[in-house]
Order: sequence, then structure tokens, then C-alpha cells
Amino acid sequence: MDDLIARAVEDLASAGKVAALTGAGISTESGIPPFRGKGGLWERFDPMEIAHIDALMRDPAKVWTILVKEMKQIVDTAQPNDAHKGLARLEKMGKLETVITQNIDGLHQAAGNTDVIEFHGTFAWQRCMDCGLKYETSKVDISEIPPRCSCGGILRPDAVFFGEMIPQEALWRSRQIASDCDVMLVVGTSAVVQPAALMPVIAKQNGAKVIEINAERTPLTDEISDYLIMGGAGEIMTRIVAELEQKV
Ligand code: APR
Repeated sequence: MDDLIARAVEDLASAGKVAALTGAGISTESGIPPFRGKGGLWERFDPMEIAHIDALMRDPAKVWTILVKEMKQIVDTAQPNDAHKGLARLEKMGKLETVITQNIDGLHQAAGNTDVIEFHGTFAWQRCMDCGLKYETSKVDISEIPPRCSCGGILRPDAVFFGEMIPQEALWRSRQIASDCDVMLVVGTSAVVQPAALMPVIAKQNGAKVIEINAERTPLTDEISDYLIMGGAGEIMTRIVAELEQKV
């Protein structure tokens, strides 16, 4: 791993524009379970049953009871870990401009990154399915499930459910940033959900170096990534930033 850390430091030191794509794997060290693989949410629940827009419209109480209540408890207490802090440090060093995240936990902003594209929306806000009014999730009383808006409508997370479109602004900006970057760090994603997993492909097609940091190989590893630094994102990001700080 040492030689790959050194290679990433070289690539970042000589990079102009750097972007990152992150997934649930960057938040597991904050106590938030991933979706796939060991301990993944989709190992316990069928995503089409509780994370598809049709399921939410058909039975909002069930979705709230199973998915949203569990997520709310976890996200309300989760703190940024060393991997989030490493990306925030890179921004401060002028070595990372934008984080495109698939996560809805708000931990990149909490760590200090200032340009975060929430590709799958955010769990920090709930919105009324009738009038569209938004409420901060941390302030929503979930003693009554599903919680309701002052207009009587049912509240839902401001996140993207399966079967829904990616917010247009997020999609457009992400494609732009993927096209323009010289290096894309891809951290903690299984790269199986589209169109998020297309961003590293766009970066590669436009001549960028794609550096994958993940606990396992993914569909990107052989086809798209220049190299995979396999291991825990917290330790790897900490080492990359420490060595980069010596150089710049
Ligand atoms: N360090 C590095 N990688 C890790 C760590 C860690 N500490 N923990 C887990 N991983 C890796 C796993 O090996 C896996 O490859 O992170 C990846 C997490 O993959 P997923 O759980 O599939 O998460 P993600 O890729 O973000 O899923 C994409 O799917 O269900 C939808 O909307 C949901 O945004 C999510 C999307």
C-alpha cells in the first residue's frame, strides 16, 4: 500500500483540478452502515420494498417505520471520521474543489468541505408530500409515524428514492466537474448505482486520473481506475494528507 499512497501523493501534488466521488463506505467508520456487503442495509431489507418511491407512496408508514426511523437515529448522532476530515483538509490545501457524494448524511459539510454536491439528496431535511414545505430532520417529532406537516400532509426525506430522478442541478454540475477534473478520488463506493457510477467514467474519458480508495475491488477497478488503494478510507486518507502536507 505504501507505494500506492506515494503515487496518490504525487498525482495530487501535480494535479490542477481535483474532484471526489464518495459513497457509503466513507461513512461506515462514523457508525453508519453501508448498503451492500457485510452489515449492509440491503442485506437486511429489500430496497425495492422500502427505498423505492412506489413503496413510499403506497405505504409511507412502513417506509418510515423501517428505513427512515433507523436512518434518523443514526444520522442524528453520526460525526465525521478521519476520511471525511482528510477530504476537508485537501480542500484547505487547495487540492480538492468539489465532493460529489451519494451519501445523505451531511458529514462532508460537517467535516468542513464547502462545495458538496448531494447526488442523492439529503436526509438533513424532510419535505411535505402535499405542500412541499421543508423541515429540518433533527427537529421532526417521530413519535407519530409518519410525521405530518402543519398542512396535514405526510413528510418524506429530501433524498432520492429508487425510481426517482437525480436532482437536475446535481446531475448537471457533477457531469461538468467530472469532465473538467485532472484527478478524481473515488472513495467508499461499490460503483453499482447509476448515474453516480458514471462520474469516474466521464472523468477518465476526459483524461483524468482516477484513484480508487475502497475496502474491495469494484466494477471500476479493472476498467476505469488507474489504481485501487485497498483498505480503510480513514487510514488511507490520513496517510495521503500527511504525506502531501510534506510536499506542498
Ligand atoms: N473504507 C473503505 N471502503 C469501505 C469502508 C471503509 N471503511 N467500508 C465499506 N467500504 C466499501 C465497501 O466495500 C463497498 O464497496 O464501500 C462500499 C459501499 O458500497 P455501498 O454500500 O453499495 O454504498 P454506495 O456505493 O454508496 O451505494 C450507492 O446505492 O442504495 C443506494 O442510494 C444508495 O447512495 C447509495 C447507492
